[in-house]
Amino acid sequence: MTNSYTDLIDQTFYFPQDGFDLHKGYLEFNGIPLHYFIKKYGTPLKITYLPKIGSQIKKARNLFNKSIKSLGYTGKYHYCYCTKSSHFSYVLNEVLKSKVQLETSSAFDIDIIWKLYEAKKIDKRITIINNGFKPENYLQKIVQLINKGFKNTIPICDNVDEVDFYAKKIRRKFQLGIRVATEEEPTFSFYTSRLGIPNSKVQAFYKEKIAGNDKLEVKMLHFFVDTGIKDKIYYWGELKKAIKTYCELKKICPSLEAINIGGGLPIRNSLGFEYDYAYMIKQIVLLIQEACDEDNIPHPDIYTEFGSYTVGESGATIFSVLGQKQQNDSELWYMIDNSLMNSLPDSWGISQRFILLPINKWTNEYTRVNIGGLTCDNSDYYNSELHQNQVYLPKFNKKSKEPLYIGFFHTGAYQDALSGFGGIKHCLIPSPKHILIDKGEKGNLVERLSSEEQSAQSMLDILGY
Ligand SMILES: Cc1ncc(COP(=O)(O)O)c(C=O)c1O
Repeated sequence: MTNSYTDLIDQTFYFPQDGFDLHKGYLEFNGIPLHYFIKKYGTPLKITYLPKIGSQIKKARNLFNKSIKSLGYTGKYHYCYCTKSSHFSYVLNEVLKSKVQLETSSAFDIDIIWKLYEAKKIDKRITIINNGFKPENYLQKIVQLINKGFKNTIPICDNVDEVDFYAKKIRRKFQLGIRVATEEEPTFSFYTSRLGIPNSKVQAFYKEKIAGNDKLEVKMLHFFVDTGIKDKIYYWGELKKAIKTYCELKKICPSLEAINIGGGLPIRNSLGFEYDYAYMIKQIVLLIQEACDEDNIPHPDIYTEFGSYTVGESGATIFSVLGQKQQNDSELWYMIDNSLMNSLPDSWGISQRFILLPINKWTNEYTRVNIGGLTCDNSDYYNSELHQNQVYLPKFNKKSKEPLYIGFFHTGAYQDALSGFGGIKHCLIPSPKHILIDKGEKGNLVERLSSEEQSAQSMLDILGY
């Protein structure tokens, strides 16, 4: 048969590829026999492959350090994990094995820091970068952290008034960062990001509120292009502007010694994904180096806060196709056993695409489908992939003994937080069962049930029944 699903993949992509392979007709993800775990735990099923987290950190670190060495750059590289991309303890435990620093976004994040400290997963020397526009409870928790000895905590001023609180409440000399607001992409609905202090006001802010106060030491200039690190004129333009701001500030602020480029390192969201990580990272280091050399300024330490990049590729979300509905001549629906809006909210909210593959039936013919979720919402669907505006999956016979299983891959970042994992869900469709898979000492796979499928009672409790 020449129009099987296998043929389609062979004709469209290089396959197998890193993390994806077939074994006896079934898809494997990072060597995980998905079929086995589906049989054991059922669907819908969320899987986190923990070793991927460490390997991602190692890859980025190596690329930065290699670039630093080859260019003769004199600053150091620091990998921070941005907790908001997945706050779960199993993720934090894993990233901390790689000795990363941490970035927080809200008051409750600081409670996580204390929990990690009590569990001896971190000590008070860790660097903690505090981002976001901060309400008083967040400010207070940052102050408490610094007053209690986390001396490498670096609150990043998102606006010019934030510093007053620290200056008043912190009882020791402390470090500070300044977030510089980026200009948004031309297609966006506003010009300047609401996050950070406009470029034109950074110098005045420093001179008026910080310079001359011996307690405050500005250590870091922070910026973040929300649309990600892309080989586009827009990204390079914003990076160059931020480096220029760094150089100008450094001339009047001797304590400044680090530039933080935020998150945004992409992950694979299609089997056709192409991204030259080595080139992009080298280019970033080079641009900082060239600008500093031109201004006779020491090369700053470089900090990143990669969220999606750290955890995204560790996750997979697997569904069974419960049935098919031919709604007209051309529209065939595959109805899955959970909701896309609820379990992969970015697919609905920002039209994020994930790698989508069937787990079985690769030798069947393929067909164009719309995937439908279980809620009543007409937005609860998925029908286009990144490389084409359509979704193709194997045909299946409803009498066949084994249902069609499909997997969305690289779903490990943000989806749980945005969907409120374990909370109230649209149409009360529960959060799926979740398993963690790790490598044992002999390289064997070891799995652990992280959470059962959400129960009716847990929702009814929240709802007050
Ligand atoms: C300040 C800051 N740093 C890091 C990140 C992480 O971004 P990403 O997940 O794209 O790496 C974000 C995401 O919103 C952010 O706002």
